[in-house]
Amino acid sequence: MSIRIEEKEKLFSLETAHTLYQMKADETGVLLHTWYGAKTDTDMSYRIRTVNRGFCGNPYEMQNRFDYSLDTLPQEYSTDGVGDFRPSAVQVSLENGSRSVDWRYAGYRLLKGKEKPEGMPGLRGNAETEGIEIRLEDSAGGLQAFLTYWLFEAQDVIVRSARIENRGTGTVRLKKAASVCVDFPYGKKEVIHFHGRHAMERMPERIAVPRGGRLAFESRRGMSSHQSNPFIILCDPDTTERQGNCWGFMLMYSGNHLEEVCEDQTGNVRVISGIHPEGFEWQLEPQESFRTPEAILSFSAEGMNALSRNYHRIIREEVIAPRWRNAKKPVLINSWEATYFDFNAEKLLRLARSAKELGMEMLVLDDGWFGRRDDDTTSLGDWVCNEAKLGCSLKELTEKIHEIGLRFGLWFEPEMISPESDLYRKHPDWAFTDPDRLPMIARRQLVLDMGRKEVQDYLFETISGVLKSARIEYVKWDFNRSIANCWSHALPEDRQGEAAHRFMLGTYSLLERLTEAFPEVMIEGCSGGGGRFDAGMLYYCPQIWCSDDTDAIERIEIQRGTSYGYPVCTMGSHVSACPNHQTFRTVPLETRGIVAQSGTFGYELNPEKLTDAEKETVKAQIRDFHRFESLIEGGDYYRLETEEDYTAWMSVSPEKDEALLSVAAIRVRANGLFPFVKLQGLDPEKTYCREDTGEKMTGAALMCGGVSFQQMMGDFPCTQVYLRAWNNE
Ligand code: GLA
Repeated sequence: MSIRIEEKEKLFSLETAHTLYQMKADETGVLLHTWYGAKTDTDMSYRIRTVNRGFCGNPYEMQNRFDYSLDTLPQEYSTDGVGDFRPSAVQVSLENGSRSVDWRYAGYRLLKGKEKPEGMPGLRGNAETEGIEIRLEDSAGGLQAFLTYWLFEAQDVIVRSARIENRGTGTVRLKKAASVCVDFPYGKKEVIHFHGRHAMERMPERIAVPRGGRLAFESRRGMSSHQSNPFIILCDPDTTERQGNCWGFMLMYSGNHLEEVCEDQTGNVRVISGIHPEGFEWQLEPQESFRTPEAILSFSAEGMNALSRNYHRIIREEVIAPRWRNAKKPVLINSWEATYFDFNAEKLLRLARSAKELGMEMLVLDDGWFGRRDDDTTSLGDWVCNEAKLGCSLKELTEKIHEIGLRFGLWFEPEMISPESDLYRKHPDWAFTDPDRLPMIARRQLVLDMGRKEVQDYLFETISGVLKSARIEYVKWDFNRSIANCWSHALPEDRQGEAAHRFMLGTYSLLERLTEAFPEVMIEGCSGGGGRFDAGMLYYCPQIWCSDDTDAIERIEIQRGTSYGYPVCTMGSHVSACPNHQTFRTVPLETRGIVAQSGTFGYELNPEKLTDAEKETVKAQIRDFHRFESLIEGGDYYRLETEEDYTAWMSVSPEKDEALLSVAAIRVRANGLFPFVKLQGLDPEKTYCREDTGEKMTGAALMCGGVSFQQMMGDFPCTQVYLRAWNNE
């Protein structure tokens, strides 16, 4: 049984294959967090020692117990205003102006059969998925919290969310409602977060959790953002890729988010993650409730690579739509860096023909096909084909593309509106703009108020119309600015704090309708590259364009950072032209191919401009990709540790009978060191044959002793080694 309840002790033990999550309601009804980590069959509350730390007050009923304070005890869903002075999971303003919440345990309910939360993405689960709902009550405020935990045993994942319900008689203003709060009593911790910027997303940084301070990783841009991914890892100071304790917190949400990490005066480390409370205020009338997004938690005692593999598995198996889970995705060519806005049907057909000759399988027509859009200043919202520019209809174009033998994909940026558009002229109030204030403009565009049903309906109708008008197998769903002036013309003044979250719900609802109506169309997420690379978008989009930076050397870092939380099969990555359009760097075509292969693989260049030798290389790359596709996309991925001039990663098949190792030289030196890499994930007992040299070695030797190569020379060389389990016959 994966959920054990000791009724008398009010002890709740939630077990996955290798982890235990435990909480306990104490004699006052406070729900204490007692453990999240390796499996034990013990009541872990023995670790909690109460002591009077001074200036830590006591709940009324414990006024004679100076050692008992909410300020020092590990909490399961921390409160505000009643004695826990650390960051709180909820903040409210009651009708009488009180801001206090005092949760006490009020019961539980076992759950079986998970469905995703209504109106929001969530883990899929099935009829057998088990969970538990714990009810907390704040009797004076008339509030209830329903904490939900779903167990994904095999993947070592626990999914948490909360629902706050107003059971009182007055209006409650919810100002903060975190999805998760976990306290880690005792022991120094470090945190890895993923910061960045446009064209340089998800850079890991590891820092110590400061004593007495608070770290905040956040986005207030209305999107999960390039700058701070809604995923953090907490770990022990000695944890590495290969060993040690680490805990992941991934919010399944694509909007404003906040992850707080702090260490209190007792050495307790608290992690809180959820919708960003700044700017957020949700009005709850009596009997109404608010549901938070789900947070995906995982623990590994075996280092960061193992934790990443838990996330890779859960995303592949429970986030991505079943239809796309093991689907072979076409090797696509995207028109963006090949033509930018400058194309017509003739040019696109030439592109398609030369792409087909090289083995590519789908042409994606990027920005510029609609309205009067010849640059990025107009027409977002006017999703009508610009036939004058193309020289034919979309139907005619797609028919010809299909005749050539390619599938066809199309770019949209649904949530945006250009002030210079028919849509804006007709519905200026559909855009977010502050009253009496000129709006902030970014890329000459505004953001649609997606919370409005009529906006969702308009987009559903127009996008459906385009998808029905021609044979379109793929959509690139872009989002190219942060949200400012988040003021909805459809909401009353006292509900403007709901606009940003309603925006996200509206986007999810539109994605839900479109994916239901067009299940065979694959949507690739995008936001100026990877500005919305999160589990929420992955629920609808099985892959996301990882970054607008297509430079292979930069991509190694970006994809490596992304791999901490997200599987290779979700990372949109293409071979682009050199000198690269973002860095002007020239990287060998072979290296570009190997790096793009560690993602969804495609091209973003004009094949007509390739030399004959380069064309042969491209053909070989596509053949290699198909040969290794299931190993890369479906295998176990490992980040490897290397000398500083090199970087390496590998994929191992689930049966551990084949592996693909990639090693890139970031900097080549005269008389330099040999690249030398210790492999991971192999079967120590098996013998593997190295395809390039024919050498045979045991998995144990390859993992302990490693693999060495001749020194690689030239600019940014990269090499790939295929290993296959070998037996004597
Ligand atoms: C964003 C995307 C690019 C491209 C352009 C088009 O920046 O990330 O790949 O689609 O928009 O405007």
